[in-house]
Amino acid sequence: VRNWTEVGALTEALRDRYVVVHGRAQTIRAVGKNMAFVVVREKGFTIQCVVTAQPDVVSRQMVKYVAALSRESIVDIEGVVSVPDVEVQVRKLYCVNKAMPTLPINIEDAARSEADIEKALQAGEQLVRVNQDTRLNYRVLDLRTPANQGIFRIQSEVFRQFLLSEGFVEIHTPKLIAGSSEGGAAVFRLDYKGQPACLAQSPQLHKQMAICGDFGRVFEIGPVFRAEDSYTHRHLCEFTGLDIEMEIRHYFEVMDIVDRLFVTMFDTLNKNCSKELEAVGRQYQFEPLKYLRQTLRLTFEEGIQMLKDAGVEVDPFGDLNTESERKLGQLVLEKYGTEFYILHRYPLAVRPFYTMPCYDNPAYSNSFDVFIRGEEIISGAQRVHVPEFLAERAQACGIDVQTISTYIDSFRYGAPPHGGFGVGLERVVMLFCGLNNIRKTSLFPRDPLRIAP
Ligand code: 4AD
Repeated sequence: VRNWTEVGALTEALRDRYVVVHGRAQTIRAVGKNMAFVVVREKGFTIQCVVTAQPDVVSRQMVKYVAALSRESIVDIEGVVSVPDVEVQVRKLYCVNKAMPTLPINIEDAARSEADIEKALQAGEQLVRVNQDTRLNYRVLDLRTPANQGIFRIQSEVFRQFLLSEGFVEIHTPKLIAGSSEGGAAVFRLDYKGQPACLAQSPQLHKQMAICGDFGRVFEIGPVFRAEDSYTHRHLCEFTGLDIEMEIRHYFEVMDIVDRLFVTMFDTLNKNCSKELEAVGRQYQFEPLKYLRQTLRLTFEEGIQMLKDAGVEVDPFGDLNTESERKLGQLVLEKYGTEFYILHRYPLAVRPFYTMPCYDNPAYSNSFDVFIRGEEIISGAQRVHVPEFLAERAQACGIDVQTISTYIDSFRYGAPPHGGFGVGLERVVMLFCGLNNIRKTSLFPRDPLRIAP
């Protein structure tokens, strides 16, 4: 077993130490016949490695071999750490596997910021601007940029630890289901051994059934399928959903979880992922998210009033469109100094059939949406747990009760009051990092025009 030193861990403190590093040969440059430089990259960090021909240590043959390496080949290197510019003076270099000689994307170009590209072009530098489609076509190369390494490492820090510590049980619900769970047209239909079926639009029905099965608090992080027709910066046909569901007596308990989960998560990201955030910021400049220690909660009515006061006309019992959501985000930032807030007590008419109406006014519901920088990341609610009323609500919303009969039956055996929410992981990371497109935070995005790679 080799004792690797991570490239990111190479510092002045390791001066004169013999180390073994591995990674990719990002750039290779020969100077005459006796010297070559290889910049080795591992997990987004780079180190310059110097190969110098010296009798009995490194042969000229070896320098020639290194100079001929292709970019992005996998290399193992042994050598001595030198300072002041922390470098590795190479003793041995093995090419473990070589990449093709010319690659469709140059990682260094793909890693540059827009401002940097503009400057370079004005200075007459020859470079290729890598557009989004090219990036996605060659995603495994694009993923190697420091910003993308940052984005997906940030993504893996999100959610799980906090929920386990709060007593949530991780579950995995079926993705092949008999009927649509969120209604509407955005469903991928398929043939299930001769029966009509579809890909799950959310774990909604089965996570509620898990509550009927006495798990108390559950969560799932898994794929969610939406046959979206819209080609927007924030819709995918497959995304990663975090769904939670829990026994409650009041829907404010679910909002309390949102509050604690997200404030903890933002704090953790800022603390544990500072290097990753810096890497993302170098390529895509963004301002750190402004959020309060206790998340702001506004009622839908209060939100409508703020919009009205600002001269925006909105239907008090309709849903907010993207534009008014953005506008409200701006108004909230100006008035309360936060870019993260909860809007609750939505009109019942704009929520799915399983949403519990407000006890004091059934025109409203015990439901909420959560916003980052003026865009929705969560929708949640208390659910209807009384079977007869649930069937009535489904019918009123035009759903064929037959297709969800086993779901409704689950409540006939006695169900506790419960609620929960669903979050899109890609949206959270996109908005936390102030990015302008959800494709940047999806490892291999699926949209109406893309199913490969
Ligand atoms: O608002 P949605 O459709 O709500 C549900 O699925 C409910 N079952 C949740 C619940 O527990 N009540 O989706 C929840 C979240 C959205 O807020 C958004 O972040 C994300 O999922 N989302 C999408 N992300 C990317 N592409 C899409 N097409 C998305 N549709 C929803």
